[in-house]
Amino acid sequence: MGRIIAFANYKGGVGKTTSVVNTAHVLAMNNNQVLVVDLDPQGNATLTLSRSNPFEQEYTIGNLLADKDLLPRDCLVHTSYQVDLIPANLNTYALVASLPANSAKRIFGLRNRIAELASQGWNHDYILIDCPPQIEGALITNAIAAADYYVLPIEGESVYALQGVGHLMQAIEAIRDDSGSSIRMLGALVTMHDARTTAGKTVMQAINRYFQDMVFKTVIRRNTTINKANLSNRCVCDLDPKSSGCEDYRAFAAELIQRIDRV
Ligand SMILES: Nc1ncnc2c1ncn2[C@@H]1O[C@H](COP(=O)(O)OP(=O)(O)O)[C@@H](O)[C@H]1O
Ligand SMILES: [Mg+2]
Repeated sequence: MGRIIAFANYKGGVGKTTSVVNTAHVLAMNNNQVLVVDLDPQGNATLTLSRSNPFEQEYTIGNLLADKDLLPRDCLVHTSYQVDLIPANLNTYALVASLPANSAKRIFGLRNRIAELASQGWNHDYILIDCPPQIEGALITNAIAAADYYVLPIEGESVYALQGVGHLMQAIEAIRDDSGSSIRMLGALVTMHDARTTAGKTVMQAINRYFQDMVFKTVIRRNTTINKANLSNRCVCDLDPKSSGCEDYRAFAAELIQRIDRV
């Protein structure tokens, strides 16, 4: 089975979805079989990868968790980016909320469904999970229980970037222990970095001090092409392969694979 990597931060707007879709796209361009699991009911990863309204998806991760008769392959969307997708949309909230309070699906649903997919011959090399901006709840619990690793995207220019990070890491460890998951932190990924500003420099120093060698060497620079790509529901390397955004996500994907092989 492939490596399962969750991109998690309880804060919104830190670059989780951008990092998931663009890393997935780069990995797919490098001939890997890639699956993205959208666990955020906002459906932003679904929108970019499928290039269509998340509400047009027949089945979402919510159906897959709630309906035992549904096959995982029936929820797979094969996107034009050569990335497979298990979508999410706002209906996912209600479906997940409908799971009985003590149901194992609240913890192990995703892990079991991914194992099922692999046993049915879907050999994804990398499975990237776009987590909702939460610190607890069935969706994030399912992500932690299923994943081998997590990447923590951190906004490089926000003075609040590190606030609550310790709590998040503790929460992940607690879920790991309760679920028997072997999830490990792969690294902190600095996004939206601007080396020219005082805030950019100060926050970068603080992040390096806090995470030390857990900070990915690759930093995702603030780049308007990334924003444009998101606005037009495209991956940045598709919109402009020469942009710094594409360059940075290529470098990050390479470093990610290197780290996985090392730990
Ligand atoms: N490197 C970047 N440069 C410029 N804008 C970015 C960059 N990364 C993300 N953004 C923008 O920041 C916003 C939040 O990013 P997003 O990936 O949706 O965060 P999250 O999934 O954590 O909520 C989006 O509008 C996105 O276009
Ligand atoms: Mg998001």
